[in-house]
Amino acid sequence: MCGIVGYIGKRNIFEVLISGLKRLEYRGYDSAGIAILSDDVFILKRAGKVSKLENELQNFAPIVNSTSFSLSVGIAHTRWATHGEPSDINAHPLTDCTGKFAVVHNGIIENYQILKKKLESLGHIFKSQTDTEVISHLIEEFYKNTKDFITSVQLALNHIEGTYGLGIVCAHEPEKIIVARKGSPIIIGLGDGEYIAASDPSAIVALTRNVIYLEHGEIGIISPDGVEVRKIHSDEKLDLDSRIHELALSLDEIEKGGFPHFMLKEIFEQPESLLNSMRGRINEKGEVKLGGIADFMDKILNSRRFIITACGTSWHAGLVGKYMLEQYAEIPVDVEYASEFRYRNPVIFPDDVVWLISQSGETADTLAALRLAKAKGATVLGIVNVVGSTIARESHAGVYIHAGPEIGVASTKAFTSQLVVLSLITLLLGREKGKISPELASEIARELISIPEKVKKILELNDHIKALAEKYKDHHNFLYLGRGFNYPVALEGALKLKEISYIHAEGYPAAEMKHGPIALIDENMPVVFIAVKDGVYEKVLSNMEEVKARKGKIISIVTELDDKVAKLSDHTIQIPQTFDMLMPILSVIPLQLLAYHIAVMRGCDVDQPRNLAKSVTVE
Ligand code: M6R
Repeated sequence: MCGIVGYIGKRNIFEVLISGLKRLEYRGYDSAGIAILSDDVFILKRAGKVSKLENELQNFAPIVNSTSFSLSVGIAHTRWATHGEPSDINAHPLTDCTGKFAVVHNGIIENYQILKKKLESLGHIFKSQTDTEVISHLIEEFYKNTKDFITSVQLALNHIEGTYGLGIVCAHEPEKIIVARKGSPIIIGLGDGEYIAASDPSAIVALTRNVIYLEHGEIGIISPDGVEVRKIHSDEKLDLDSRIHELALSLDEIEKGGFPHFMLKEIFEQPESLLNSMRGRINEKGEVKLGGIADFMDKILNSRRFIITACGTSWHAGLVGKYMLEQYAEIPVDVEYASEFRYRNPVIFPDDVVWLISQSGETADTLAALRLAKAKGATVLGIVNVVGSTIARESHAGVYIHAGPEIGVASTKAFTSQLVVLSLITLLLGREKGKISPELASEIARELISIPEKVKKILELNDHIKALAEKYKDHHNFLYLGRGFNYPVALEGALKLKEISYIHAEGYPAAEMKHGPIALIDENMPVVFIAVKDGVYEKVLSNMEEVKARKGKIISIVTELDDKVAKLSDHTIQIPQTFDMLMPILSVIPLQLLAYHIAVMRGCDVDQPRNLAKSVTVE
């Protein structure tokens, strides 16, 4: 939810921290701040985006632009507010009464009110409304007796309940950064005589590819001499040799590459990302290899039912997965919002297979659902994009979607890659269970392999879709309707529009419209139909008639050369035909573009929509 970065080395600390924050800004962007160790702790923090903080730093030009740094030590933060409104005061870093300790935090301290009261009774004065500030005061309190930074942090963490990824500096021991992790991720990059810690690899990769992932319940002590990792409550140094991983991320992948927004770049990357999701996993005969779950095939094939759990767009992908798996592999599937699943004591049998779908692999609700299912004895399998993320690591096994970094807050290429992976799983299990014939397997495979080319054709419609956006950008409400495999696409189209353009939009199963939402339809209501040629085509046509009879404005996603739908529609967007269960991979793309252009035309911040963050690491 928030982004943390910390650096020790000889580079210009301001440049390192600000460029790290810019890469993490997608995680939260309502305020930003830095703490630099000089003679004391220099802190600058501001409500607003990182660029505002960067501009203000120019007031300190002689230090900020200096070219010689004997040793640079600092931490920084970009925030998505939970406790306390976005403001200068509530921005991180948060300090203690003496100003000697500075803390940046991603997560939530659940018992902060109790701790705050105790600390106030001991004379501590709080400046912010945040939960985080108790950490700096607690450390200050313990330091009075211990006179030791590490011990004081460890003692403070003993008293803290909740989740955290932390970066802490202290003016008494200025050559150290302490990082700690309980829940929220922390990764430590090991450079040549320099070290950088961050909430995710994108802030690290410009400096080094060698990283250590801090585990849940660990503390890292970073100094010019190296990195030491301990369990939070222990003094024993852990062996790190086997824990150094090489990042597979490149800088190009996390830059805009000439596109005005990450979202547009990511939409246009889909021919490539889809190819990467299936590369080496399928052939034209319909034979599928998924190495990540190979050892679990017995469990998977003998499971009575699957549960798919996820949030947001990943949940929509899960819903398409249910339709695929039930229709073609004949496996019963329940699809659950992770946020509901985790709190309702669901019945889980030991032979259940629970699939967790997550782009980031860090979504707090999905992670909690994973832990719950695991504790109840189920097999938990991840369908994740970010390699090495918590969900990927805590799952028994899984399949990476290999979509590449997705930075725009609105998920686009991850969704279509999730659908590719779900169709591979369906094909694999359908074949293994004898529910898909070799002929059908080969037909699906050939269609799947041709999908990236078909996506390229749809992307050529960008100007046409932009013109439609111009016509509809000022409407206040939209309905998105689809049936069967394309019902989840209607949900996804509506989510894309509302999250980036702030227009109210609802996705509905087309046939459900007559049970209520039809009352909304008049000549001012744009209705986006996914009316492609599949098993429910004729049924969708009837639903379109119902909208037309009430003068709704119809925009249809149709299969090429379909006159019937065209006659009923005010506008059409024609997409190529494909196998029914693969259609959502194509039909969603015009909806991504429509939402994108409408949002840009309305002057919205497409990559960083208000109130949102890319990874929701709080519940
Ligand atoms: O990283 P995850 O896939 O677990 O994220 C789940 C949702 O937070 C995410 O899909 C969200 O709905 C996006 N903003 C949708 O565009």
